[in-house]
Amino acid sequence: MGIVTVITSGKGGTGKSTVTAGLGAALVRRGARVLLVDCDAGMRGIDLMLGVSGELVFDIADIINGNCTPVSAIYPCKTMPELYILPAPQNVRDELSPSVMKQLTDVLKGYYDHILVDCPAGIGSGFETAAAPADRAVLVANAEPLSVRSCNKVKRKLQYCSVEDVSLIINRFNLRRFRRMDVYDDLDAVIDEAGARLLGIVPEDSAASAASQKGLPIEGRMKASFAFDRIAARLDGKNVPLEIE
Ligand SMILES: Nc1ncnc2c1ncn2[C@@H]1O[C@H](COP(=O)(O)OP(=O)(O)OP(=O)(O)O)[C@@H](O)[C@H]1O
Ligand SMILES: [Mg+2]
Repeated sequence: MGIVTVITSGKGGTGKSTVTAGLGAALVRRGARVLLVDCDAGMRGIDLMLGVSGELVFDIADIINGNCTPVSAIYPCKTMPELYILPAPQNVRDELSPSVMKQLTDVLKGYYDHILVDCPAGIGSGFETAAAPADRAVLVANAEPLSVRSCNKVKRKLQYCSVEDVSLIINRFNLRRFRRMDVYDDLDAVIDEAGARLLGIVPEDSAASAASQKGLPIEGRMKASFAFDRIAARLDGKNVPLEIE
C-alpha cells in the first residue's frame, strides 16, 4: 500500500508544486512508483512543470464524474515514465470534496508506492480536500517571517484534519541572503517558529526553476536535485546528514 503525503504551506508561492515535482522525481530515482496528484483546482501547474500539459484530455474531476476511468486521467512524465501525474480540474467549481478525494486515493494507493498531493495555498476548502487522504504532511516554507509564521497555523489545521505527522522543508534557501536579512539567529530559530521537525533544506536554484518552466523534471546535477535525493532518502527512513548549500 502506498503512502500519501500532502505538500502544503500557508503562504502561497513558497514552492509546493516545485517540491512535489522534485521530490516525486527523487523518489522515482530510488526505484518507487510515484503518483503526483494536483489538488490546486483552477490553478493547476504540475502538468506544465512536467511537460504533459499538451496531452491532457481528462483530469481528476472527470474520474469522479464518470467521464473516464482513473487510468485515462493519469499521465506519465515523458522523460521519467515511472512518475505519474493526475491533473487538477481546470475549473475551481469542480474541486473534489474531502471524502471523495479520500475514496479515490484509497483505490490509487494500491498501485503506487508514494502519492504526493500538491495542495493549493492557504487553509480553505482546497486544503481540506488535499489533506483528507494524507498519512503525513510536508510544510514548505521559505526562511522569511511571513512564510515561517504561517506554518504553525497550517500545522494546527492539519491536526484538525487528523494529520499528525508533519515535517518541514525550507525551500529556496540562500545562506548569504538569510544572514543579510538578519531576522533569525540561525536555522534552529526558523524551525522553532515553524513548529515542525526539519525534513530538509532545498537551496535557491535557478536551474531547477528554469527546468520546471520548460516542463522538465528536476534531475541531473542541479543543486535542488541533490537536496531532493537526500529528502527522499529521509522519507524512506534513511539517516542522511543535513547539508546547507
Ligand atoms: N528551490 C527553488 N529555487 C529557485 N526557484 C524556485 C525554487 N522553488 C520554487 N521556485 C520558483 O518559485 C516560484 C513558485 O514556485 P511554485 O509554483 O512551486 O510555488 P507554489 O507554492 O506551488 O505556489 P502556489 O501557492 O501559487 O501554488 C516558481 O517560479 C518556481 O520556479
Ligand atoms: Mg502550486
